[in-house]
Amino acid sequence: MNKITVVKLQEMKHHKEKITMLTCYNYWMAKILNEVEIEVLLVGDSLGMVVLGYENTLPVKVEDILYHTKAVKRGNLSALLVADMPFMSYQVGEKEALLNCSRMLKEGGAEAVKIEGGAGVAKTVKCLVEANIPVMGHIGITPQAVHKMGGYKVQGRVKEEAERLIADAQVLEEAGIFSLVLEGIPEKLSREITKKISVPTIGIGAGKYCDGQVLVSEDLLGLTGKVTPKFVKQYVRLDKEIKKAVDRFKKEVKENKFPSSRYSY
Ligand code: KIV
Repeated sequence: MNKITVVKLQEMKHHKEKITMLTCYNYWMAKILNEVEIEVLLVGDSLGMVVLGYENTLPVKVEDILYHTKAVKRGNLSALLVADMPFMSYQVGEKEALLNCSRMLKEGGAEAVKIEGGAGVAKTVKCLVEANIPVMGHIGITPQAVHKMGGYKVQGRVKEEAERLIADAQVLEEAGIFSLVLEGIPEKLSREITKKISVPTIGIGAGKYCDGQVLVSEDLLGLTGKVTPKFVKQYVRLDKEIKKAVDRFKKEVKENKFPSSRYSY
């Protein structure tokens, strides 16, 4: 696969070629996702929950995202690498946003950043884009606003909310985003937003009309347990496979069957 750039994503929207994006937090997974030619790797702040075991994404630090971005960078050759900016790393002021986001590119090797929010972050987006930092937007369910939303509830179900989300998408496009994540909104609304803006939309729990789809890799792989949100499709239950393998290892060690001569010097 040729190197994916923000320009290539724009062309894919133009040619109606669906975009695939997955979260990626480490070196070996980046290599596997490159082999399958996933176009965008997102070092999501979901790593706070998936990798670090926090209750939500709020405790994630710039250093956490940076550490994992560096690892993914070492395994990634072809996908567009996007670093997700943690809670309060871009809201305090434009100067702080510039300093934190630029670290992802300078030190982490990311090629773009993602920030959550609508019209309220448009000025920051403009400022980042002017500094040559490509920005992916994120509206709908914005997990960093979990307490304000009162949980991870589908957004845009009522008319005023839907209109606000359409306006947010348009303001963000004007501010210069190269792509927009739509999370947890009705399919009809994401279809309308996807038609109304010229940059590619990437959906998660937003139905099939988006220009692309994203999932948390560990959800897709069945590593995050039995109970998942409605939009998660578990393509495999790796948790069961891991348990089976580890159980066999344990049994063989206890019975002195491993290592056999084949695995010994
Ligand atoms: O942090 C994350 O993984 C995300 C995706 C779910 C879009 O923001």
